[in-house]
Amino acid sequence: MKRTLGVCYYPEHWPEDMWARDAAQMVETGLSWVRIGEFAWSRMEPQPGQFDWGWLDRAIDVLGGAGLQVILGTPTATPPRWMADKHPDMFAFDDQGRPRGFGSRRHYCFSHDAYREESRRITRLMAERYGKNPHVAAWQTDNEYDCHDTAISYSPHARAAFQDWCAQRYQSTDALNRAWGNVFWSMDYDRFDQIELPNLTVTEPNPAHVLAFRRFSSDQVVRFNRVQCDEIRAYSAAPIIHNFMGRITAFDHYDVGADLDISSWDSYPMGFLLDRMGATDEEKARYLRQGDPDFQAFHHDLYRATSRGRWWIMEQQPGPVNWAPWNPAPLPGMPRLWAWEAFAHGAETVCYFRWRQAPFAQEQMHAGLLQPNSDPAPALDEAAQVAREMGQLGDVGTATARVALVFDYDSAYAWEAQPQGADFDYFQLVFDCYKALRRKGLSVDVVPKTVDAAAYGLVFAPGLLTVPDYRGAGHVVLGPRAGSKTEEFSIPDGGAPDIQGLDLHVPFVETLPPFAPIPVQGGGAIQKWRDQLEGAGAIFQTASGAAAVRQGNLTYLGGWPDELFWARIIDDVTALVDIETTDLPRDLRLRDTDTHRFYFNYGPHPVDFAGQTIDPAGVYWEPLK
Ligand code: GAL
Repeated sequence: MKRTLGVCYYPEHWPEDMWARDAAQMVETGLSWVRIGEFAWSRMEPQPGQFDWGWLDRAIDVLGGAGLQVILGTPTATPPRWMADKHPDMFAFDDQGRPRGFGSRRHYCFSHDAYREESRRITRLMAERYGKNPHVAAWQTDNEYDCHDTAISYSPHARAAFQDWCAQRYQSTDALNRAWGNVFWSMDYDRFDQIELPNLTVTEPNPAHVLAFRRFSSDQVVRFNRVQCDEIRAYSAAPIIHNFMGRITAFDHYDVGADLDISSWDSYPMGFLLDRMGATDEEKARYLRQGDPDFQAFHHDLYRATSRGRWWIMEQQPGPVNWAPWNPAPLPGMPRLWAWEAFAHGAETVCYFRWRQAPFAQEQMHAGLLQPNSDPAPALDEAAQVAREMGQLGDVGTATARVALVFDYDSAYAWEAQPQGADFDYFQLVFDCYKALRRKGLSVDVVPKTVDAAAYGLVFAPGLLTVPDYRGAGHVVLGPRAGSKTEEFSIPDGGAPDIQGLDLHVPFVETLPPFAPIPVQGGGAIQKWRDQLEGAGAIFQTASGAAAVRQGNLTYLGGWPDELFWARIIDDVTALVDIETTDLPRDLRLRDTDTHRFYFNYGPHPVDFAGQTIDPAGVYWEPLK
């Protein structure tokens, strides 16, 4: 398959006589795709029922005529002002019970039925009008579900929809009371319409209630997205894409991905490092202009799994952004490296955000490929370089890795509902494991927990709420906290953990503050969480009991490993299943494709490896032997 580059463009921000020149320069740069439309509702429908499609028709003609393929975005992330007047109760509510206001974007509640119908209406009109347009070669639904924390809403509409969701799931309040354990603190309900949302309670709400609400909130996003997909598919054969974000656990991306043809995500490595990752100051200083060496790759591997292998970068950071606490400029070479890394992980297309920096409004400090006055910004040349290099290298394919890592949104909701220790964060647990695997030079596929584990030699599945039957399926590494609850968030009848094939008993667990890790004999430590393990055979020990046990094809970790303990576990299990590892230098990462091994230097200094010196922000590839 041919890999391609693209860019995000806002024709409505620029005089019409600039469009043709912009389009020609995009093509000259080596770009093949242009995404437009996703925030332009007020210009498509300036007044309710009054449309102005002329400018969009012409923009598509000009861009398409220049040889670009258009990704057309539905504009539903930015309902215009008149929409708020028409539906004054359409706003999402925050967890303090306050409606979110007009004046930025994403101010709708996923449970507002009339807004969902408005979204269907505008999507249908666009699909009818452009569904057969030869230049419209892909669609984007909405923009970044959950951006600005908007997937979870505590509005009156959300409450009514949640009550309905509960009635459908549990059928009777008796069943719901039993499932949630509402006898505790006299929380029993007699009618579904008594059930409030789990905010504004005096102290912690029932975690089963929170878990149900999180599943419901996810289902609302899925439903909203599906409406748009159905409308588009009725008129167009072009693939449907949504642009996900980094480190978002507010909805199940596998469920949304099931309705898409292609998943994509918006990659802002430097913003994420300072904003979203919990990096130490030392890491922030070291990777300030590059981003974390694993964060992008993790999301590439995750989103590849959410729509059956097809995925893109819809927005790639080109220079400083405007929204992180600080917004430094990338090391020269990084906008090229980020694109190559995405291709090595199987991206079909990488689109830079945005073509030209806007001189006005919220994002006027956000870089583009061009400056506001149309002079080139530094990333323009790098994009052109990637385009040339792609032409020279040809297709490298996407390989299936030998190691899989499970990421499960349900487990994220569950442990957010009741972390038990202040820093027990499911995303971080899985991401720590991912980092450790990558430092061992392994290519990893992120997978849902329903994966056919037998297809992989080795599967890591830390921290799962409930554990599927993984007996006889390659080697599977579980724990900590795995299988410790039922689907409805109570302790299993037979005691925890409930894992088939593992005769393991955990009489108690404890959580640990950051200053109190427990050393593992031989090196490393467990931190944050400890399961007291009894039963299956110990393979690692602490002074107070087993740190990990093994039975058959299952290994169970009795705590959250630190970096050194992860490395020892990986050495141990990869030797068992005969997978080779390589200890990589701190800043270097690799990914194997079908034909090549790619190396990426995320560090601030040159790295010597594999007989090469790889410069900072350097990418090196060699054919696989
Ligand atoms: C993304 C968003 C874009 C733009 C960009 C700025 O989250 O989809 O519209 O705001 O961030 O970095």
